[in-house]
Amino acid sequence: TLSASSPLRKRDLVVVSNREPYVHSRTDDGIAVERSAGGLTTALDPVLRRLGGTWVAWGSGDADAAVADDGTVRVPPEEPAYDLERVFLAESTVEDYYYGYSNSTLWPLCHGDLGRIRSEPSHWPAYERANERFADAVVEGVEGGDPDPIVWIQDYHFALLSDRLRSRSGLPDAATIAQFWHVPWPSPDAVRVSPHARELLEGLLGNDLLGFHLPAYRRNFLETVDRLLPGASVDREAGIVRSEGTGSSEPERTRVYARPIGIDVSSARRAESTEEPSSVFEDYELDPGRSLLLGVERLDYAKGIRERLRAFEHLLETEPRWRESVTHLMVAGPTREQVPEYRRYQRRVREQVAAINARFGTDDWTPVRHVEAAVDWERLLALYRAADALVVSSRRDGLNLVAMEYVAANAGGTGTLVLSELAGASEILEGAIEINPYDVAGTAAAIDRALSLEIDEADEAQERLESLSESVRRHDVGEWVRSFDREVRALATDAAARGDA
Ligand code: G6P
Repeated sequence: TLSASSPLRKRDLVVVSNREPYVHSRTDDGIAVERSAGGLTTALDPVLRRLGGTWVAWGSGDADAAVADDGTVRVPPEEPAYDLERVFLAESTVEDYYYGYSNSTLWPLCHGDLGRIRSEPSHWPAYERANERFADAVVEGVEGGDPDPIVWIQDYHFALLSDRLRSRSGLPDAATIAQFWHVPWPSPDAVRVSPHARELLEGLLGNDLLGFHLPAYRRNFLETVDRLLPGASVDREAGIVRSEGTGSSEPERTRVYARPIGIDVSSARRAESTEEPSSVFEDYELDPGRSLLLGVERLDYAKGIRERLRAFEHLLETEPRWRESVTHLMVAGPTREQVPEYRRYQRRVREQVAAINARFGTDDWTPVRHVEAAVDWERLLALYRAADALVVSSRRDGLNLVAMEYVAANAGGTGTLVLSELAGASEILEGAIEINPYDVAGTAAAIDRALSLEIDEADEAQERLESLSESVRRHDVGEWVRSFDREVRALATDAAARGDA
């Protein structure tokens, strides 16, 4: 709940993200609408449902499906509450802006995987073009409406958007532009690698408010600006950047804050009554007499899947008692397949799984089961509850909501979390067994310990889970939205104190 004086309640809200919360497609039976699965939809769909507003996103479904006369779509379909404004992009733009600059440069750059950056001359211009297109769509959405709307941009697909918005005449002067960066912000040395480092920073400084999950990312950002933009002045303590403004625009002031997103704790718990954990043993041909080690992620190199498989193999090599007594179930579906690095990674993961199974598998035991098909929420919750341990082995991860979902789904029950210390979530979750995924023997030992805890040290397992549950509850997604609300309010207080308002 937001307080009565909340800016979010009083002012029009426009959310911008690359992924749409609902995808419309034309089928033989009419129009099918599918709700997106990601953490962003979970976080912001309830807010817009309650407050109304507009969500601007890349139209990934059928352009002609469900369009009103003014080109917008009301969602959610069962109880229309807000406008979805879809931005349709040419295939070549998607190729170069989304698969290209966003996911072949910015993603590896922000995750510190510089060797995986692949850059083509067509990528950057398409990224600029897409940001321009979104700026037009946002202005269309706010024109003639509320004189002081709040525009809340999400993520790394839109580093230039706030700056492009500033240059549009249709944007009301009193609009607040804010952005949340959901992936890590790396060190200044990593950012320097990009030939567009300055443009990215200047682009982001068009925001009044800029959020990151962790104080460390915020610190990195402020330091990056300090080192790479000589014209900007940075108050690291207060998190305020004053920049020159670009082109004809006025000098700008950006407030930078840190607050991690979370999950909707109640929806992970509610499922207790739905699908039985036991049903998943049958579905995935698992033997309930064996321990179950679960992994859930997109097939992304940042998730450290290959490192984890190596560690699991090492466990079977060095601790033969686990042979035939543990199954590692990996729910990891393909993602971003147009990017060659991702296709290569998928292939390698499949080969590695096959090799481990060939080496250790027996007639009635498959050590690693890899599920590539999408798993719906209820089924996922049943899996979380059935698993003795969940392992998150990210080489780098902005936060990691799967770790939180696992904890919430098991609260009051059993289950141990093995969590990479390189995932942002490790900064806020207390009670996990931490690993460095590059440490093969250490990760194997942590998995061994997690599975053993579940078998014969119930007290410690329970203590860990209780402390984890407590930290997950403290970071419920509602708290993330309220913190944004408070930050927007602080902007106004700051401005009043300076005499600008
Ligand atoms: C991860 C990141 C998000 C990002 C999303 C995009 O979940 O943590 O920050 O927005 O990937 O995924 P997509 O499938 O849309 O490329």
